Amino acid sequence: MRIYLRLPLASILALLNLFCYSNVESIAGVNKYLFASATFPTLIVAVGEAPFNNGFFNWLFDIIFPERCSGSWIDFSAEGFNNALKERVYGQPLIGLSNAVQQHWSNNQPAKALLLSMHGPPGTGKNYVSGILIRHLFIKDSKSKFYHLFSGTVHFPHKNQVQTYKDQIQAWVRGNVSICPKSVFVFDEVDKMPATLLDALKPFVDSYQHIDRVDYRRAIFIFLSNSGSDMISRYMLAQKKLGKDRSEVYSKLDDKLPLYLYDESNGPLRKSDLLKHHLVSRFIPFLPLERLHVTECIKDYLKLHYPDWLYGPDFIERVLNKLVFVPEREKFFSSTGCKRVADKVQLQMSIDEMSDKDKRRRRNEL
Ligand SMILES: *[C@@H]1O[C@H](CO)[C@@H](O)[C@H](O)[C@H]1NC(C)=O
Repeated sequence: MRIYLRLPLASILALLNLFCYSNVESIAGVNKYLFASATFPTLIVAVGEAPFNNGFFNWLFDIIFPERCSGSWIDFSAEGFNNALKERVYGQPLIGLSNAVQQHWSNNQPAKALLLSMHGPPGTGKNYVSGILIRHLFIKDSKSKFYHLFSGTVHFPHKNQVQTYKDQIQAWVRGNVSICPKSVFVFDEVDKMPATLLDALKPFVDSYQHIDRVDYRRAIFIFLSNSGSDMISRYMLAQKKLGKDRSEVYSKLDDKLPLYLYDESNGPLRKSDLLKHHLVSRFIPFLPLERLHVTECIKDYLKLHYPDWLYGPDFIERVLNKLVFVPEREKFFSSTGCKRVADKVQLQMSIDEMSDKDKRRRRNEL
């Protein structure tokens, strides 16, 4: 639970507990000793969080303060979001993303719903960035009732049931936006969805004031997909050889990516009405990651999981050598971005451990 929600409650409990030491006999009709023994453990959890699994406290808190569709539960600070991106995302310029969200979220009557389409090779951070965005939109993060995640392979696996899926999506979006206009719908693995499925969203991202009295214009839709990655990678490689920097490449892709998706790609967007009718508010390319970005991911992983471990500089080098870098000759970009980092760190650690044991054994034999 967020600290600023926890603290006020803890302070109230603490004050009431303090009363127990005064001359009063009862608090809110309850004997003061009984009151103190009942509220003190809750106070400890509220302040410390550590002594108990805070699941209980969250549950209690949810009952006392249920999530509502209002400003205290739904918010966005472009500054906070930008700082999080700067600290935790490597090599992705993402110019204009926070502005787009900020403008949309603060506008009471936007012209249409915001539709962000994120494209890029695996492991470049699409899911990661969308997760950071959700954390900055909803106090309850991904547990918010107003956040909905659909995955192409999990929710819509069968090509022959497109019509059923379409009806389902429409019912869900309609139902949820009626409850809260500031709902967010993320569609992951869009490239693995049946081609025409996305057309189900067309009425909701178009500029109608309302449909059957439901106004969809304040909602946010986010697509995550790998389509276009081949083009992004090719373009990035060519520009890198010319010595162009990443933000320059990013800005150029702003125009190139939609044209490519529309003309040449085989992805579902090409056939979708959303693209034909220019309903995507923004295409967000994710660029292939270079050695120095992957290095940062490895460091982050180590810091998170082995905070006290002092590794030598060659450890990171050895992990990097376990990853595949393309193209064959120049080896500029990690073929899996930062995706395989955890596996490779683990692998390298067990290799090191084995060779350490081996050395020790040989030393003992000598
Ligand atoms: C809201 O969306 C979820 C899927 O995330 C769905 O299960 C639920 O039925 C929807 N709610 C309404 C009221 O339609």
